[in-house]
Amino acid sequence: MSQSIEKQNTNLQKEHAAYIKPLGDWTRTHHCSELTAQNNGQEVCIMGWVQYRRDHGGLIFVDLRDREGLTQVVFSPEIAPKAHEDAHIIRSEYVLAIKGRVRPRPEGMVNPNLKTGEIEVVVLDWKLLNTAKTPPFPVEDRTDAGENLRLQWRYLDLRRPRMTQNLRLRHRITNSARNYLDELGFLEVETPILTKSTPEGARDFLVPSRLNHGEFYALPQSPQQFKQMLMMSGLDRYYQVARCFRDEDLRADRQPEFTQIDIEMSYVSENDVMTMAEGMMKRIFKEAMGIDIPTPFVRMPYDDAMRDYGVDKPDTRFDLKLKDITSIVRGSGFKLFAAAELVKGLKVPGGAGMTRKEIEEHTEFVKIYGAQGLAWIKVHENEWQSPITKFFSEEEKQAIQEALDLQVGDIAFFQAGAKEMVNAALGNLRIRLAQQLGLIPENTWNFLWVTDFPLFEYSEEEKRYVACHHPFTAAKEDSKHLMKTDPAHAKARAYDMVLNGNEIGGGSIRIHTSEDQFNMFEALGFTDESAYAQFGYFINALEYGTPPHGGIAFGLDRVTMLLAGASSIRDVIAFPKTQKATCLLTNAPDFVAANQLRDLGLRLREEPKKTEQDKSNQE
Ligand code: AMO
Repeated sequence: MSQSIEKQNTNLQKEHAAYIKPLGDWTRTHHCSELTAQNNGQEVCIMGWVQYRRDHGGLIFVDLRDREGLTQVVFSPEIAPKAHEDAHIIRSEYVLAIKGRVRPRPEGMVNPNLKTGEIEVVVLDWKLLNTAKTPPFPVEDRTDAGENLRLQWRYLDLRRPRMTQNLRLRHRITNSARNYLDELGFLEVETPILTKSTPEGARDFLVPSRLNHGEFYALPQSPQQFKQMLMMSGLDRYYQVARCFRDEDLRADRQPEFTQIDIEMSYVSENDVMTMAEGMMKRIFKEAMGIDIPTPFVRMPYDDAMRDYGVDKPDTRFDLKLKDITSIVRGSGFKLFAAAELVKGLKVPGGAGMTRKEIEEHTEFVKIYGAQGLAWIKVHENEWQSPITKFFSEEEKQAIQEALDLQVGDIAFFQAGAKEMVNAALGNLRIRLAQQLGLIPENTWNFLWVTDFPLFEYSEEEKRYVACHHPFTAAKEDSKHLMKTDPAHAKARAYDMVLNGNEIGGGSIRIHTSEDQFNMFEALGFTDESAYAQFGYFINALEYGTPPHGGIAFGLDRVTMLLAGASSIRDVIAFPKTQKATCLLTNAPDFVAANQLRDLGLRLREEPKKTEQDKSNQE
């Protein structure tokens, strides 16, 4: 905000501050979306912020806003001359208490779009409860304020009705889940925030210990081990609206600090957990959205998801399946295809009109997933237009045409190379194409379970197998023997819930014997000693009569984002972090004083170079 505006603000505020009155014994009788024609003639008291002030031929109109909505307030020189005279100081976002009488709006002034649109409150008396500086952006849904500005002034941003609605929806979702779980005998138990590392595959946030120099707590990536230990403690059915912390690269659906509805149950198998979870979603949709969703949800094995959609969270609201043509092109003259681990095609029906520029854009897009390029074929009457068909024999062309069911007017894209890359490139291109071509039906809630996940995935970075879900997930009975001999093909008793192509929850049946847990750690490259050093307390706990158990955790922020129709997870979190994991409102993370570091037994290897100014410019 420019200095001169700031100064004007301050002067005006000083002048108007003289009008501020204490609330005294005034009590609010209604909120701002409550009054209708039924209240006509009643004396009421409402309080809130000034949305707009309009002066009209002697009358002053104010739209008063609170969390619930707007009410039109009228200051009339005939009815309350002093109140009207004082009303000239009123500005946007000033906080008012209004005592007045409800009356019908004059003919032609009724606003059918507003709940209170039939009435207005004519002021008998009012108090200025507080002044406000001119906000850096108007407090209304339609705003062109950038996200950084909104995050910096988050308390003003949250006054906007859409944001308030998002928080209300979040509350309703949490409340439905709590009621549902309570009715099923789940107990909510809090687990520690200052704790030991819980491996969920991300980097830990660490907190240095003042009382134990050189030692650190880790903030929990999830309450995983604690919820399992609660099963060992005999809690039987646990849940928690749990804060989790993961230091990972952020995306539109990821925050470093997020919330799970975290659940664990004793004496269960996959079906029990999945049925319970479906019931919870059904309840949430009914109560928070008024929508009936059919259960049970479709179950899709991981291998089928990868084969047909290239991703482990398929969006099945639209078709466009990937087709494996590896065996068709294996012997072809096109070396790139012939030698590739996997070759897949993706047909877009009626897409032959796609321009070169559009194809180039898709090619750039798949490079994000490690692709070098993107091959394509356009099917025209009597000929294929394509940079690659010259390499294929007539038989091969025929086989490709049949595999993809190519018709005149179609375009097909192809990707060849390492399995992960091919699936990721085409799987994500599939979604992009569907979005661009408008193939995704609106207002469709497409739930499914992905099951039979691999137990392990190979980490190129660590040059070893790591747990696909987490190291406490049990192997499928018939693949336990593969854990050591053929880890790539071992399957887990894990399941993810997917909604419209988003992973909204994940869980598994757990290992509940110390022997199986040791086997798991061994398969992950731990020695007995190193497993004990890191997880000794947990392995011990498994040895004191642990019941079979399993569970699931839902990403509350993601569920709310989808139900709110928001495009970013940040829109459903009151005080979120930016993509760079900073809080623009409080300026966290921040530098600390030298004596604070000394107390913690820490010294920085390099003095921080950045000043506060640099920091805010950087955002
Ligand atoms: P998982 O790691 O799959 O499982 O997490 C469960 C769900 O949490 C959500 N989620 C996130 N939401 C926002 N920002 C993030 N950074 C983020 N990371 C995960 C997702 C995900 O489906 N302990 C296990 C659960 C279990 O086995 O019971 C766990 O945390 O919606």
